[in-house]
Amino acid sequence: MKGIDFDWKVKRLELNTNIKPFESEDSDLNDFLTNDAKNYLAQMLAVTYLIETETETIAYFSLLNDNLKRSIQRDLSEEESKIWNRLNRKVPNRKRKGTYPAVKIGRLAVSKKYAGSGFGKFIIQSVTSMYLDNEQKAGCRFITVDAYSSAYGFYEKNGFNFLTDKDIDKSERTMFYDLIAV
Ligand SMILES: CC(C)(COP(=O)(O)OP(=O)(O)OC[C@H]1O[C@@H](n2cnc3c(N)ncnc32)[C@H](O)[C@@H]1OP(=O)(O)O)[C@@H](O)C(=O)NCCC(=O)NCCS
Repeated sequence: MKGIDFDWKVKRLELNTNIKPFESEDSDLNDFLTNDAKNYLAQMLAVTYLIETETETIAYFSLLNDNLKRSIQRDLSEEESKIWNRLNRKVPNRKRKGTYPAVKIGRLAVSKKYAGSGFGKFIIQSVTSMYLDNEQKAGCRFITVDAYSSAYGFYEKNGFNFLTDKDIDKSERTMFYDLIAV
């Protein structure tokens, strides 16, 4: 990690966790950690992981189950057909489907103070290794994210692709990462 010469650790947020101070560039993401992450945990809607030092939160991310679903043939744009053909080519013929199991990065933020140090990349690698674990509890082939436009470059650099051209004008676009074949 660039310029990080102190101890930090990753831990799962629990209902009794003391959340240490955190400030990323995005106030909604700051607010989620402080006010909502435990509610999501209690309702079994998302699990949040913290990266922290003794005194502060460096970054966090939340995960939930998801799926990648292809539209029915007549609704597919030309671009979507190309994306699904590329995606399916990595899956053996007899296992190709219109829906694949996935895990979604519901929220991800790095503190302003530590942006550019490599924690974002570390988080993507951590999610990858969690789901490539030999003891995987349920099938999961892809990571998905509804990415902010300011973060498209970050996700592309880390192996994610856009799923559709239909959200091109939206403020967030769906991106995916193939856990087996990047
Ligand atoms: C986007 C964000 C998660 C990146 O985290 P980070 O820890 O600063 O990123 P890293 O230092 O791990 O960078 C990894 C690589 O991505 C690149 N990168 C980082 N942010 C980028 C961005 N916004 N656009 C393009 N590339 C970016 C880095 O240059 C680096 O490239 P390298 O591997 O060639 O050196 C962080 O800036 C952030 O929390 N932003 C505010 C909240 C946000 O946008 N969250 C995403 C919600 S979908």
